[in-house]
Amino acid sequence: MDGPLKSSPKQLSMKKLLRPVAATGLLFLATESAKTDTAVEGFELSVRYCSRCHVIGDFNRLGGIGNSPSFNWMVKSDDWRERFMTFYMRRPHPVFARVPGYPLWSNSDPYYPPFEVTLEEIEAITEYAGTLQVTQ
Ligand code: HEC
Repeated sequence: MDGPLKSSPKQLSMKKLLRPVAATGLLFLATESAKTDTAVEGFELSVRYCSRCHVIGDFNRLGGIGNSPSFNWMVKSDDWRERFMTFYMRRPHPVFARVPGYPLWSNSDPYYPPFEVTLEEIEAITEYAGTLQVTQ
């Protein structure tokens, strides 16, 4: 669960990987994901759950919504890992992000379709976000 998420040689391969992804998108990813790299899984999850609001890298450099910080920007802060691992407790996410085993954090009407992520998936997303530190 709290295994080390140290930066690793994976960063290099992700760097190579993400360039073509920007060009050819998910089609490329579909074949590449056979590698079952945690960071690749994290990328797919970020596309599915986060990219509507956040710029998550080259995939949607011009996307996201104005008041959401980009992943590229967030990973520059010293405590970014902590922030990613606990994003579901941080505004505005408690309204729409659910983690199994955690109580409902908010009963407000979700203005965004609610989704469920596991802690493992959040780790994968965090691992992916870490790869942005070297591509920027
Ligand atoms: C509906 C839009 C929306 C979605 C979907 C969304 N976010 Fe956010 N997120 C935001 C906004 C807006 C902020 C800025 C909040 C603020 O500055 O108060 C934010 C801030 C953050 C922060 C910084 C929080 C802090 O307190 O430092 C992290 C980390 C984050 N998001 C991660 C994620 C991840 C990971 C996902 C996908 C699993 C995701 N977000 C999905 C809107 C969204």
